[in-house]
Amino acid sequence: MKEKIQKLEQEIKEALSSVRTQEELEAVRIKYIGRKGALTEMIKSIKDAPPEDRPYVGKMINVLKASIEGRFKQGSASGAPVPAGKPSGIDSSLPGAKFDLGSKHPLTQAIDEICDVFLGLGFRIVEGPEIETEYYNFTALNIPDDHPSRETFHTFFLDVAAERHERTGTDHKALLRSQTSTVQIRIMEKEEPPLQIIAPGKVFRPDATDASHSFMFHQIEGLMVNKNIKFSDLKGILDLFCKEMFGKSTETRFRPHFFPFTEPSVEVDVSCMICKGKGCRVCGRKGWLEILGAGMVNPKVFEAVGYSPDKWTGFAFGMGVERIAMLKWGIGDIRIFYENDLRFLKQF
Ligand code: DAH
Repeated sequence: MKEKIQKLEQEIKEALSSVRTQEELEAVRIKYIGRKGALTEMIKSIKDAPPEDRPYVGKMINVLKASIEGRFKQGSASGAPVPAGKPSGIDSSLPGAKFDLGSKHPLTQAIDEICDVFLGLGFRIVEGPEIETEYYNFTALNIPDDHPSRETFHTFFLDVAAERHERTGTDHKALLRSQTSTVQIRIMEKEEPPLQIIAPGKVFRPDATDASHSFMFHQIEGLMVNKNIKFSDLKGILDLFCKEMFGKSTETRFRPHFFPFTEPSVEVDVSCMICKGKGCRVCGRKGWLEILGAGMVNPKVFEAVGYSPDKWTGFAFGMGVERIAMLKWGIGDIRIFYENDLRFLKQF
């Protein structure tokens, strides 16, 4: 029996080595391990071998069968050349197919980069809804119904039923938020100080689209509330942020301004990174670029969320992501962010 197996093994090896086409390979397969093949028949005859030989013989046959099946699985790749006119579909000498690897949108990269600076300073990222009510977009931020500053944040109102604000029991129109300052209120309503948050997200304003305006853009809002937060804390953190974002040699300037939700309020300028403060076309020959609004949280805002202004102080800031990205990468037209032009996107 053992000799028979060895003989068959030799025979199969020879048959395989002379195979030239897929058809011949298939013929060898049928002849030896097909349903009536020689090896298959041999497996059936194990039962005729002397009982003490059976385990050994069985093992030999199985090993042989496995190795031969392996050869057949590899098909023409192992030994049997491909017949003309019938390609196997695999040419291992060809270079691999290249896949286009996507990358993050420049606005996402800018948001990530800005958030990273604040995460490093112990801030936490939070989000709020894009569909808001007048209460969160205006009222709680100390912008009453008839206040002229509402004009600055002109707004898309939604044609749906007014929504009741639970705590105050007042009804407010629904709208698309025109600023991420809404998120300050939502978080302070839910959580007690101390707080250190940043809130990135989309905002909407009915502006005519041009090189520097879009009806949708992105803002990042920041808020820090604790005991004894001072204006010098605001200055220190925002100065550090600007240096991280635009380079160590960047200088900052804090100009008095007005925002209803902060008092005092400032606009923050950075020295122009294009001309290094000398004055150029980008900074309008001023040497400075305005990049964010900020201020000490107005006690009226703390009262609206139920914080005691005697106990807590804080600062808030808000910046436009598109504007920062445009300055950072020298992009001249805001519309290009939303056009999905691969020639633009592939540069980031
Ligand atoms: N919400 C303001 C805007 O959209 C930006 C802003 C200014 C946010 C001052 C603030 C702040 O938190 O303190 O123009």
